[in-house]
Amino acid sequence: MSNNQVLIFDTTLRDGEQVPGCKLNPVEKVRLALELEELGVDIIEAGFPVSSPGDFNSVELISKSIKNTVICALSRAVEKDIEVAAAALKYAKRPRIHTGIGTSDSHIRSKFSSNRKDILLRAVQCVKWARNFTDDVEFYAEDAGRTDNEYLARVIEAVIKAGATTVNIPDTTGYCLPHQYGEKIAFLINNVSNIDKAVISSHCHNDLGLATANAIAGVLNGARQIECTINGLGERAGNTSLEEVVMILKQHPDLGYYTGIQTRKLNPISKLVADIMRMPVQPNKAIVGSNAFSHSSGIHQDGFLKDTSTYEIINPEEVGADASKIVLTARSGRSALAHRFQKLGFSYNRNDIDILYKSFLQMADMQKEIEEDDLLQLAQQYQLKEVVVA
Ligand code: KIV
Ligand code: ZN
Repeated sequence: MSNNQVLIFDTTLRDGEQVPGCKLNPVEKVRLALELEELGVDIIEAGFPVSSPGDFNSVELISKSIKNTVICALSRAVEKDIEVAAAALKYAKRPRIHTGIGTSDSHIRSKFSSNRKDILLRAVQCVKWARNFTDDVEFYAEDAGRTDNEYLARVIEAVIKAGATTVNIPDTTGYCLPHQYGEKIAFLINNVSNIDKAVISSHCHNDLGLATANAIAGVLNGARQIECTINGLGERAGNTSLEEVVMILKQHPDLGYYTGIQTRKLNPISKLVADIMRMPVQPNKAIVGSNAFSHSSGIHQDGFLKDTSTYEIINPEEVGADASKIVLTARSGRSALAHRFQKLGFSYNRNDIDILYKSFLQMADMQKEIEEDDLLQLAQQYQLKEVVVA
C-alpha cells in the first residue's frame, strides 16, 4: 500500500445496520457485501457475531462468498466474543478481528467501573488473544474522541506492541471539532514510538454533523483508513458517509490521496442500500441525494446552461447519478424555461419566451414545480393565443 492510499473500511453492515429498522437478514447482507466488493472497498465489517446467531450466520456466509476483500468481525474485549468472531470468520480468505474497549474516563468509570491501568491491561490482552486467530487485528479505543491524549497514546503504543496492525480512533459520540480530531491523530503520530507499525483509522460519528470533516482531518494528519457507511447510516445521527469522503479525496487531487473506489457505482449502491434498509436518502444529501445535481434558481440555471462548471464541481456520470436537472419553479428564469421547451421540441425566440414566461410564473406561483405536462399546456395555449400577454 502506498503511503497516499486511504483504505476504505465499510461498516454499513455493522454500524449502519445498528440503525433501528435497518436490520438485514443474512441473504440481504451477502448481496450487499458482494456489491461492496464490486465498489472497491478494502475492508467490509460484516457484523458483530456474538450479538446474535443471525449475525454469526451473516458473517460466516459473507466470509464464504467474498473472494478478495478483507472481512472484519467486531468483538468486545472479551475472550468469548473474540473466539466467536474468529469462528464466524473461519472461511474468510482475509479475516480481520476488530476488538477493543472504551478508553475515555467516562467509559472507564461509568461502563466498566474500572481504572486506566486495568483498561490498558484488558486492551493488551484482547489484542494478544485475537492474534491467536489471525495476523490482522484492529484495535478500537472506544470514545477516543473524548479520551485524554497522553493516556490514549499509552494504550495505542501498548496494543501495537501486543500485535494490533490497525488502530481505530473512534469519535464515538461525534464530539470533536475537525481541528481537535486532527490534532489527536497528529499527537499519536508524534508520541507513539511504534506508530509506523500500524495503520491509523478514523471512525467518526455525525452527532454534530462533523463526521465527514473529522475523517478528512484525520487523513490530513496521518490516518490512512476511514471507517464509513453508504449514505452515512449509523448509530444515532450516523457515521462518516463513504460517498462524501471518497469524492472529497477525488475532487482534491492536490491533497495527494486516493482510494480504490469505483465512483460510478456510488449512486447505484446508495439506492440499493436505501431500498433494502428501507431508509430513504434525504434529497439534499451530497453526492447521492436526488437534488445533488438539480438546479432550480434562475441565476444558477442561467450560469449552468452557459457552462456546467459554474455551478457543478462533479460530473454526475462520475458518481453514477442521473444527468443534471433543470427544475422549473417560481424561482426559475427565462433561459431555463427556453431550455426545457427546447427539450420538448419547441424552439421559441426571445419574444415568445418573454410572453410565455409571464404565464409560466403565474402557474409556478400556484404549484411547487412545473412539469412537462404543464409546459405542453402552456405551449398549446400560446399557439391558441390564450396565454397572458400583458
Ligand atoms: O463508534 C464506535 O466507537 C464504534 C466502535 C465499536 C468501533 O463503533
Ligand atoms: Zn461507531
